[in-house]
Amino acid sequence: MSVPIKHIAVIMDGNGRWAQARGLPRAAGHKAGLESVRELMRGCEKHRIENLTLFAFSSENWRRPKSEVNVLMELFLSAIKDDLEEIAEKNIKLRFIGDITAFKMNLQEKIRQAESRTASNNGMYLNVAVNYGGRWDIAQAARKVSQQVAAGSLSVDDINADVFAKYLSLADSPEPELLIRTSGELRISNFLIWHLAYSELYFTDCLWPDFNQQELDKAIEWFGTRKRRFGRTAEQIDNQMEQLNA
Ligand code: FPP
Repeated sequence: MSVPIKHIAVIMDGNGRWAQARGLPRAAGHKAGLESVRELMRGCEKHRIENLTLFAFSSENWRRPKSEVNVLMELFLSAIKDDLEEIAEKNIKLRFIGDITAFKMNLQEKIRQAESRTASNNGMYLNVAVNYGGRWDIAQAARKVSQQVAAGSLSVDDINADVFAKYLSLADSPEPELLIRTSGELRISNFLIWHLAYSELYFTDCLWPDFNQQELDKAIEWFGTRKRRFGRTAEQIDNQMEQLNA
């Protein structure tokens, strides 16, 4: 019996190299990368994945040349403009995680409008991480927890991992069972560092603009071969599977 995947997280990497290999500007790679996002969403629909979280812009991406940062911001704006209606009609709930206050006001407004347009949807959750960093997420959660303690509504003795996790981004989604990172890099790069504690990590050499439904099928097939133990022994897991299949 294969275990269904409820949440896939993706580090979309390799847009620049894809463009460079074709003698194109990096912007062309990001544009092609947006097509891969659309393709991925179709694939997730096919596989009935309920939560998809994409790393679109990290807290560290501000270090890129200003022109490239601008290209990415324009791309986010045009993606919201071009895709929002279809997303809304497909019953997808679009959410942005990360510190969006660093963005220009018009992008912040479009992001909030897109979120409220899809707020009552209850099909797939599409989470787009922008100006996001896992350490930022943990720090903002710690700040909120401290505020609760200072206000007297939370006791220090009651803080544990489960309570703390309620203050993190994506608190209402299951943790990702599968992380996909493209382009051959073997790093988490400050993505969902808390949430990925037990995720299966799938690294592929495929560059993000080349990622398509067949590549997603491969990742999901690979996931099916993994034995997820969560600290238990392989024998315990085998016994559990036998009971489930009985
Ligand atoms: C990493 O490739 C990619 C990014 C930093 C941007 C990702 C953005 C998109 C795919 C488009 C928009 C997405 C949404 C959800 C609206 P890289 O530039 O680091 O590639 P390189 O390592 O080859 O230089």
